[in-house]
Amino acid sequence: MADLAQPETLGPALGGITKVFLYAEQRGLDGFLTHAREAGVEHIVLLSAAGADPNSDDAITRLHGEAEQTVADSGIAWTFLRPGGFATNRLLWADTIRAEGVVREAFPESQSALIHEADIAAVALHALTEAGHDGTGYTLTGPQSLTVRQQAELIGEAIDRPVQVELQDLDDYRRSLSLSLSGWSAEIVEARIRRIAALVDHPAPTTDTVREVTGRPARTFADWAADHASDFV
Ligand SMILES: NC(=O)c1ccc[n+]([C@@H]2O[C@H](COP(=O)([O-])OP(=O)(O)OC[C@H]3O[C@@H](n4cnc5c(N)ncnc54)[C@H](OP(=O)(O)O)[C@@H]3O)[C@@H](O)[C@H]2O)c1
Repeated sequence: MADLAQPETLGPALGGITKVFLYAEQRGLDGFLTHAREAGVEHIVLLSAAGADPNSDDAITRLHGEAEQTVADSGIAWTFLRPGGFATNRLLWADTIRAEGVVREAFPESQSALIHEADIAAVALHALTEAGHDGTGYTLTGPQSLTVRQQAELIGEAIDRPVQVELQDLDDYRRSLSLSLSGWSAEIVEARIRRIAALVDHPAPTTDTVREVTGRPARTFADWAADHASDFV
């Protein structure tokens, strides 16, 4: 199996490969790029993050900005996918929704325009299989900014069972976020909390990039909840 953190596993995996969809795993990135160049990889589509910037004060956008810089410096053609929050983050609610019909969140009025994983994949497919995407960064979001409360409601509609939102103490929230982001530093957890808090009562920015690249509108959060209903029952 190929492990990005263990570059010695990558040579065999890259044989005959010309295009790669890559996660920004900083620990193994240099090793990966060395093997990719040797294998003749011509184009990398990197899963980055909205606002990626190597000079950012925010640990998440800085890490992704550094990864982008490393890929751009590799000499291999690149396309950067910069999604905002993933709708799949809401799978963290599955246990308590299944058990109690409840989600616990510290910022129920925080907004996000979560993106369906199928839309990230659709954009990646276009970037990997068509000409014209080299050297481009695509900021990707879902079509609507919704509060945590509205997202919980839409999951309730998808499973035909109401979902209550309970206010969670900030320390409990920090603990559950740290568990879900296991492997990430405390700095990343705090950056994530600051970002969520900043979007209380503020619409999250949206883009039309999914439609521009794929020719079809981005899937809504209601679509995502319907597609994942079985995860919540
Ligand atoms: N979640 C978000 O809202 C969001 C938003 C924007 C950007 N991003 C970025 O998108 C990426 C994925 O995020 P995520 O939330 O989906 O993370 P995740 O749930 O932790 O998934 C990470 C994936 O990477 C794989 N992986 C980790 N280390 C690896 C390694 N050394 N070699 C090969 N595969 C490895 C994991 O495989 P296993 O399951 O086998 O461990 C897993 O499938 C991250 O770079 C994240 O910063 C996330």
